[in-house]
Amino acid sequence: MKALILVGGYGTRLRPLTLSHPKPLVEFCNKAMVMHQIEALAKVSVTEVILAVSYQPHVMDDFLQREQKKLGIKITVSRETEPMGTAGPLKLAQPLLGDSEPFFVFNSDVTCDYPLAAMIAAHQRHGGKATILLTKVDEPSKFGIVLYDAETMQVKAFREKPTEWVGNMANAGVYLLSPSVLEYIELRPMSIEREVFPALAADGALYAHELSGYWADIGQPKDYLRGMSLHLQSLRLRGSPELAAGPMFIGNVLVDTTAQIGKDCRIGPDVVIGAGCIIEEGVRIKSSTLLPGSRVKSHTWIANSIIGWGSTIGSWVRIENTSVLGEDVAVKDEVCVNGGVILPHKSVTEHILEPRIVM
Ligand code: GDD
Ligand code: MG
Repeated sequence: MKALILVGGYGTRLRPLTLSHPKPLVEFCNKAMVMHQIEALAKVSVTEVILAVSYQPHVMDDFLQREQKKLGIKITVSRETEPMGTAGPLKLAQPLLGDSEPFFVFNSDVTCDYPLAAMIAAHQRHGGKATILLTKVDEPSKFGIVLYDAETMQVKAFREKPTEWVGNMANAGVYLLSPSVLEYIELRPMSIEREVFPALAADGALYAHELSGYWADIGQPKDYLRGMSLHLQSLRLRGSPELAAGPMFIGNVLVDTTAQIGKDCRIGPDVVIGAGCIIEEGVRIKSSTLLPGSRVKSHTWIANSIIGWGSTIGSWVRIENTSVLGEDVAVKDEVCVNGGVILPHKSVTEHILEPRIVM
């Protein structure tokens, strides 16, 4: 089986992280975002993954070379010369996808307990052209909303970002498509949500599959942090040995084996500490991710924030309120950062008391 991941463009909503790292390579819970998806696909015997990108930074080449060897899975890049939307890239990759068996399509900015084997079984059972994964959401206007028959699971209507309330079961951004779906797509910028799914639903060829586990869109910092908590809780429910244990940890915490943590720290709940991070004594961290190579000096307090690769946070610093520090940021001792978005390679030497961007 094959799969295509819609990677898209520059990941502007995840700035400043995506100013120095392509979005699919930004670590989420200590693993590149795209690797969570590729590993889930490998588990259901997918042998080739096509990344549909509208640009390709060279750092991605080396990374993909390494990972495809590790997983024994072929990773190909299908590159657009102009952004082709969410359906156009499928047509462009048609020669790679082939016409013999169904393939998975993923939005790259979502994470969940992928029920891929169950989707394959459902797809065979209903015999339709497409199966889309659904999850319940609180803000339907931000998603594609699906109306379907709860008995047969046949989709009656697909409304992308509805302005009026039509329901709260949303497109989770994970599809299993038969090659015949490509007949609904033209080689031009085209939206799968606005042009393809409504046509498939009208033909009675679109079916839904409800997700029972967690789901999150992690395309922007607030959602990334929420997704992190959900992912850690799902590790907890599965009894994962990866979660940190010990007196300094509270709740669900993931610490890379190469990270160092000093004495008298309180870490958690909901914290991810990346490879090579160094945390000095008396530090308090909750609901945050520290990306690889960052350093936090003594007695600092970090909450609800993302600290970029190789950043250095001074002593007695306070960082909170969805602050996002890019790569290689330095924060001076005793400074407060409240909702600061700090671009790569900057130094923060004064308090940031209101949310703002530091360029
Ligand atoms: N290759 C390529 N080219 N990928 C693209 C392009 C493009 O021109 N445009 C968007 N993408 C990718 C994005 O990177 C993302 O992975 C996916 O397609 C969906 O685009 P988003 O921009 O993230 O859409 P959204 O979050 O507003 O809505 C989508 O996701 C929701 C779930 O999170 C829709 O699929 C909704 O129906 C869905 O509910
Ligand atoms: Mg999205």
